[in-house]
Amino acid sequence: MKPLILVTGGLGYIGSHTVIELAQSGYEPLIIDNLSNSSLRVLDRLETIADRPFTFEKIDLNDHAAMKHLFQRYPNIRGVIHFAASKAVGESIEKPLLYYRNNVSALVNLLELVETNSVPGIIFSSSCTVYGQPNILPVTESMPFGKASSPYGRSKQIGEQILMDASSTSAFTCIALRYFNPIGAHESGLIGELPNGVPSNLVPFITQTAAGLRDKLRVFGNDYNTPDGTAIRDYIHVMDLAAAHVAALNRQLQGKQTSNYEIFNIGTGQGFSVLELIEAFDRVNNRPLPFKIADRRPGDIEKIFADTTKASQVLQWRAKRSLHDMMRTAWQWQENLMNESFTSTTQPQYDNR
Ligand code: WQD
Repeated sequence: MKPLILVTGGLGYIGSHTVIELAQSGYEPLIIDNLSNSSLRVLDRLETIADRPFTFEKIDLNDHAAMKHLFQRYPNIRGVIHFAASKAVGESIEKPLLYYRNNVSALVNLLELVETNSVPGIIFSSSCTVYGQPNILPVTESMPFGKASSPYGRSKQIGEQILMDASSTSAFTCIALRYFNPIGAHESGLIGELPNGVPSNLVPFITQTAAGLRDKLRVFGNDYNTPDGTAIRDYIHVMDLAAAHVAALNRQLQGKQTSNYEIFNIGTGQGFSVLELIEAFDRVNNRPLPFKIADRRPGDIEKIFADTTKASQVLQWRAKRSLHDMMRTAWQWQENLMNESFTSTTQPQYDNR
């Protein structure tokens, strides 16, 4: 009997890629999603990739009754991977209460059910934004929280604190994975990032510009204290990130955690600037990318990349895919999106910007 793993937000960008990795690693995913930022079409794609059906239920984590009923109907849930959250930094500044409802109170609701149903553990989707702008690079997990630049970042800091406190007194354990910048798509080209409306993240904006759906990419600032003046991030292929979740789940279910609450940086350990990403995209996909230098974006930090020693030594996990793979698969996904009527509740709106 394959261990049943509840995947909240399992039709989202990172959740969907992790469902494939779970299925291929001997686990049975139980997918829930409220479809606020995804589409049932993703479920069809997952079943095509895996060549098997998946169990899916449309549920909002804030619906206490529905969530309680879910755990009653699936008493043998062996683990939870919690992706479901709102994640747009800019939107969180405009709608802080929405972010605290979706990212904090929903987490508490889930943890109460994990506890009362004696689920052994939870893997939490955290973010490098908890570091703010670090003074020392690369960042290690032992570094304290920085000043979060948005309610989104603060909601991840609060989430980690809740998990630290709850796992210290409850029977369940927790592993928090601090993602750096996930980009790219599954090799099949059938799933990938599906931003609603105008993308705020860099790579979907690059691919939509290259596809002629956006006039020009704006590079937010070239006066940072970096070699080419543009901001540096640690970009990681979404399939490497998916594999990290399986490595963490293996550790948790094999009872190998040395404390009830563990944290791991999930990045490549290498930083690239915005201009380096543009250059990589041009080189890989041989498509010129029109861009212009614009003002810095409020809330952006200058530079961050991960120290990945702990994940490689303790999880025996390392990112394997190159920046070339990231840009190649990102473009392949964009091309497929353009070639197909990707009918979905979140049909990409390509307004003329
Ligand atoms: C990357 C770089 C921008 C768009 C966010 C979240 C983080 C995580 C990843 C969830 C920055 C620059 C961007 C554009 C640009 N999400 N940029 N022009 O802000 O590092 O992180 O996404 O876990 O939590 O905060 O990612 O892709 O928005 O920006 O120049 O049109 O690209 O200034 O330097 P970010 P991003």
